[in-house]
Amino acid sequence: RSGASRCSLQSRPEYIPNHIPDPCYVRIFDTTLRDGEQSPGATMTSKEKLVVARQLSRLGVDIIEAGFPASSPDDLDAVRSIAMEVGNQPVSEDGHIPVICGLARCNKKDIDAAWEAVRHAKKPRVHTFIATSEIHMQHKLRKTREEVVRIAREMVAYARSLGCQDIEFSPEDAGRSDRDFLYHVLEEVIKAGATTVNIPDTVGYTLPSEFEKLIADIKANTHGIENVIISTHCQNDLGLATANTLAGAYAGARQLEVTVNGIGERAGNASLEEVVIALKCRQELMGGLYTGINTKHIVMASKMVAEYTGLHVQPHKAIVGANAFAHESGIHQDGMLKHKNTYEIISPEDIGLSRSNESGIVLGKLSSVSGRHALKSKLLEFGYDINGKELEDVFKRFKEVAEKKKFTKTSQQILFWWQRVSDEDI
Ligand code: KIV
Repeated sequence: RSGASRCSLQSRPEYIPNHIPDPCYVRIFDTTLRDGEQSPGATMTSKEKLVVARQLSRLGVDIIEAGFPASSPDDLDAVRSIAMEVGNQPVSEDGHIPVICGLARCNKKDIDAAWEAVRHAKKPRVHTFIATSEIHMQHKLRKTREEVVRIAREMVAYARSLGCQDIEFSPEDAGRSDRDFLYHVLEEVIKAGATTVNIPDTVGYTLPSEFEKLIADIKANTHGIENVIISTHCQNDLGLATANTLAGAYAGARQLEVTVNGIGERAGNASLEEVVIALKCRQELMGGLYTGINTKHIVMASKMVAEYTGLHVQPHKAIVGANAFAHESGIHQDGMLKHKNTYEIISPEDIGLSRSNESGIVLGKLSSVSGRHALKSKLLEFGYDINGKELEDVFKRFKEVAEKKKFTKTSQQILFWWQRVSDEDI
């Protein structure tokens, strides 16, 4: 079903909005800066958003949903800056430039704002949505089915008329929508020019087997679906967002919407690191599916998002939690010493965490000459060779931070600090 025998390239294929040349390639659509920022208290400044967007690009995400431009002039400005910079200059090792996407409700004002913000990117996308479940149409929109279909069709066509050739449409609350009505809405927006149809489980209500069937049914029953990309957007209200996303990919979705650390409305979204590493770790069972993510940048992205949003990662969080690679019990430690695979299914190095780097290496405000050498050698381990005046300046700034924050820094924190200093200086 997932087409293992047809997998060929194993490297990022050319970007065509409504088609992926390799059937096994899965696009990663990151919405940390939009749905993620909707987490209570997670507001980021425009500058922080730009730094996060650079990191997402370095990570290799295919599409960055940079914000909801109609929501405020600040958000429009932030999305525009990301489109201008991150949407034009490659920073990832494979030299790719991500699509920059802006969210819009199905009305002209929102779509105008989204297009105005993203059109500066090399690959701009507008993502428009309207609810299709009875409960949302009746109580929130107060519109009939016919009105909803008409609005969806007209607004996709409107985005096209502005010159946007990459349009994503989401039937909000698809997980609880009537199936035949859902197929109908999707058929109409595909005819109007949508290139990706995203299937949100807006309230995180479905179970993995149901979500898999939902995607498979859409694939089998929607005319024209073969001409577009099917996407998933799974909220985590029942703690099933990652499982549902993987089930969707298994059934044929080739764009997965995720956020770093799984942040987002209420209980959050499917987390980028869990989805990407699960696909990598269980690639064979998933039919050979692969992504363009350079997993070595995951830890940095996680720390950056945690620091900027103030949403700290629980210690036992899969992949990026502080305990994800810690082995406490004697039996486990003994096993680990004999063979790492006894208790580890992924290697910390694969996500940018160096076991040796973490062991007891601490630099703080009391470090002086040896601290300078230690900082130099730490940065060298991460590939940054700095000397002379540059080293003096960096060390001075490092001590200032250590003094102010009154804490000592492990290697990973130093790396994060250094990357942020470098990015903020640009
Ligand atoms: O949860 C949701 O339905 C959304 C859509 C806008 C994709 O965030």
